[in-house]
Amino acid sequence: MRANILLTALAGASSASASVMRIAADSMEYDWAVTGWSAGCARAGCYYDFNITGAENLTQSPATPAFKAYCSGYYEGAPYTLCERLDEEDTDATVVAKLLPSNITANGSRYAVIQVSLEYTDLETPTTWWNFTGHASSIYNQFVAPLQSFTITPSEIIGVA
Ligand SMILES: *[C@@H]1O[C@H](CO)[C@@H](O)[C@H](O)[C@H]1NC(C)=O
Ligand SMILES: *[C@@H]1O[C@H](CO)[C@@H](O)[C@H](O)[C@H]1NC(C)=O
Ligand SMILES: *[C@@H]1O[C@H](CO)[C@@H](O)[C@H](O)[C@H]1NC(C)=O
Ligand SMILES: *[C@@H]1O[C@H](CO)[C@@H](O)[C@H](O)[C@H]1NC(C)=O
Ligand SMILES: *[C@@H]1O[C@H](CO)[C@@H](O)[C@H](O)[C@H]1NC(C)=O
Repeated sequence: MRANILLTALAGASSASASVMRIAADSMEYDWAVTGWSAGCARAGCYYDFNITGAENLTQSPATPAFKAYCSGYYEGAPYTLCERLDEEDTDATVVAKLLPSNITANGSRYAVIQVSLEYTDLETPTTWWNFTGHASSIYNQFVAPLQSFTITPSEIIGVA
């Protein structure tokens, strides 16, 4: 078992014998790059469309896989939508995304809030899997601003062994 992993016995974990590990997200220097962000709202609701990449890093703990995925979906507050893997890496990395309710600032500006989650089998131990989740704020840029690029830093990292 790797160091810096805090073992937590969570009541209600999916399997009674599985141990759930929660990694302090700020212990990793790791984020995802969002490119080609476009989002907008019409009467029917809001949509988003972007690519997201994560870099392989075999020296950090846990090791992270390379991935690139295309995410697109609708409606603030909707459940996760599966993103389409664009890379041809030989891992089972799954990426999902959803729009959280928008962030309306005091002056009335409305910001999109996108949440992304990555799940993959540990790169060395096939019985362990990891789930990283993070969110970031951007703009509803359709018609008013060019495609945006920004990063999402995972804020929750959970492993199940
Ligand atoms: C995502 O990446 C693919 C392949 O690199 C590219 O063809 C596509 O235009 C990109 N889409 C966005 C929304 O940036
Ligand atoms: C990989 O992770 C280590 C530990 O967090 C970090 O020091 C290093 O810069 C990372 N390498 C790359 C290429 O991001
Ligand atoms: C709302 O957006 C503003 C401006 O980007 C940001 O400073 C603030 O942290 C955001 N609040 C939340 C709850 O995301
Ligand atoms: C509203 O406030 C945000 C910071 O919270 C600022 O970035 C933005 O430019 C402001 N918009 C207007 C129209 O004043
Ligand atoms: C990560 O875990 C959360 C909470 O259980 C779940 O909603 C999400 O779908 C998982 N992510 C992936 C990519 O499966």
